[in-house]
Amino acid sequence: MHPDAGQAVVREIEQAGGEAQFVRTDAYLEDDARGMVEAAVRRYGRLDGACNAAGVQSCSKLVHEISADEWDRCINLNLRGLFFCNKHEIAAMLLTGGGSIVNISSSGALAAFPNGSEYCASKAGVLGFVRAAALDYATKGIRINAVMPGGTLTPMLAEAMATDPGLESAIAAVHPMNRFGQPSEIASGICWLLSDGASFVTGISLPVDGGHTAV
Ligand SMILES: NC(=O)c1ccc[n+]([C@@H]2O[C@H](COP(=O)([O-])OP(=O)(O)OC[C@H]3O[C@@H](n4cnc5c(N)ncnc54)[C@H](O)[C@@H]3O)[C@@H](O)[C@H]2O)c1
Repeated sequence: MHPDAGQAVVREIEQAGGEAQFVRTDAYLEDDARGMVEAAVRRYGRLDGACNAAGVQSCSKLVHEISADEWDRCINLNLRGLFFCNKHEIAAMLLTGGGSIVNISSSGALAAFPNGSEYCASKAGVLGFVRAAALDYATKGIRINAVMPGGTLTPMLAEAMATDPGLESAIAAVHPMNRFGQPSEIASGICWLLSDGASFVTGISLPVDGGHTAV
C-alpha cells in the first residue's frame, strides 16, 4: 500500500477511537513479511490476529498469451507472498499460544471468469493452503481461514472497469444479488473469522459474494 494511503487509514482508525500503525511492506519479499510481523509484536507485545489481503488482479489475457513473467507476478503475490505472511504470523502466534489468520481469496477460486486463469489459479491455491495449514496448527490454538469476496467496489475493480466499459454490468449479472459488494460487507466476514465468535472454525473459505459461487 502506498504510504499516503496507509497513513490515511491510520488516521481514519484513530479518529474512530482505535489505535493503528502502518508498516510499508512488499509482500513479494519474505524479509518484508517478517519485518511487518516484528513491527506489530514490537509495538503490541504479541500478534492475535492477521488478515492478508495484498493481491493483484488478472492481467486479462488468454492462457496462450500470458508470459511467464505475468504468471509469476500474479502467483508470487497472491500465493507465495501470502505464504510468507502466514509463515511469520504463525511463528509469532506460536510464541503466545494462538491466534486467528484470515486470508483473502476470491469467488474466482470457485467460479471462474474469462481471461483470469492465473488469478483464479492463485486464489484457488489459497483454498488448498488454508485447509492444509489449518490442520497443522489446529491443536496449537491457531485458526487459519479464508474469505472469498465476490465483485467488490474497491480501487482494484474501479481500475478494471475504467478500461472495460462493459465490465460493471457483466460482473453484476453473475452475482444473484445483481450488485457489487461493499468493502464493509467483506470486512464483516473477516471480522467474524478473526473473532472468538468463530472459535470452532478453521480451514474454511467463506464466500461473501452475493451468491456468486452458489450458481
Ligand atoms: N475487489 C474485488 O472485486 C475483489 C474480489 C475478490 C477478491 N479480491 C481480493 O481482495 C484483496 C484486496 O483487493 P482490493 O479489491 O482491495 O484491491 P486493491 O487493488 O484496491 O487493493 C490491493 C492492495 O494490495 C496492495 N498490494 C499490491 N501489491 C502489493 C505488494 N507487493 N505488497 C504489499 N501490498 C501490495 C495494494 O497496495 C493495495 O492496497 C486482493 O487479494 C484481491 O484479489 C478483490
